[in-house]
Amino acid sequence: MGDDLPRSLTRAAVVTAALAALGAALAAFVHASPALVGGLAALVAFATAFALAATARALHAPDDVREPRTVHATRALEPLPGDVTRRGVFDRFWLYAAGAFAVLGIVPFVALARNAAPSGTKWRAGARLVTPDGVALRADDLAVGGVETVFPEGHVSDYDSTTLLLRLPSDAVGGADRRDWMHDGNVAFSKICTHAGCPVALYRQASLELYCPCHQSVFDVVHAARPVSGPATRALPQLALDVDPEGYLIARGDFSGPIGPDSWGRTA
Ligand code: FES
Repeated sequence: MGDDLPRSLTRAAVVTAALAALGAALAAFVHASPALVGGLAALVAFATAFALAATARALHAPDDVREPRTVHATRALEPLPGDVTRRGVFDRFWLYAAGAFAVLGIVPFVALARNAAPSGTKWRAGARLVTPDGVALRADDLAVGGVETVFPEGHVSDYDSTTLLLRLPSDAVGGADRRDWMHDGNVAFSKICTHAGCPVALYRQASLELYCPCHQSVFDVVHAARPVSGPATRALPQLALDVDPEGYLIARGDFSGPIGPDSWGRTA
């Protein structure tokens, strides 16, 4: 970097930082690979550091400037040279840089919001619960103590949406967590084990527990399917239920969280 680094190069670095920040935010929003988001963030840092260094260089007075000896006397201060007052190093390009960092600052929040919202399944508000044969279920179709595998209507082959619908006895409903997520004793959880993704296929009505046959994780249905033994550390995501005007069970939205183990459906 020479002493007379062209200002256009500094501006190019600032613009590069701004564009890279926008790119990083966009990449995070569309769930691009973390390597791309990180690479763009690194480019923002590098380009901004370059621009700052160039600016500092421009502001630095040359070492060989000497003030000539003069007779000391009271005299009016002369105005600063025009090139000092007009140095445009803090011009609008630095507003772009500030904007770039502001955008970059929201990248983690964008990524968090995107991760927190969808579970990656087809469950949406108003989706009817249907059997694997596509038959919609009413609130009293399932016998108390019963269990049924259900899917969102129109998506019976979507494995990620596989859900267990259970109907709890009234004495269990009274002490259950998230009672407002149930409807008439019906309660629904993701069937995909949060340990390694096996189907949670066994229901023990006597203890109101779900068992995963792969590594014997046990989930407490009454307490929002939290794991009570085995290797799973996270509860089965729950589906809030309601009924539509025709009396069919529907989801009030997506699952309470991501389905399956942490690595489920994430390839990058
Ligand atoms: S996959 Fe369910 S306990 Fe391991």
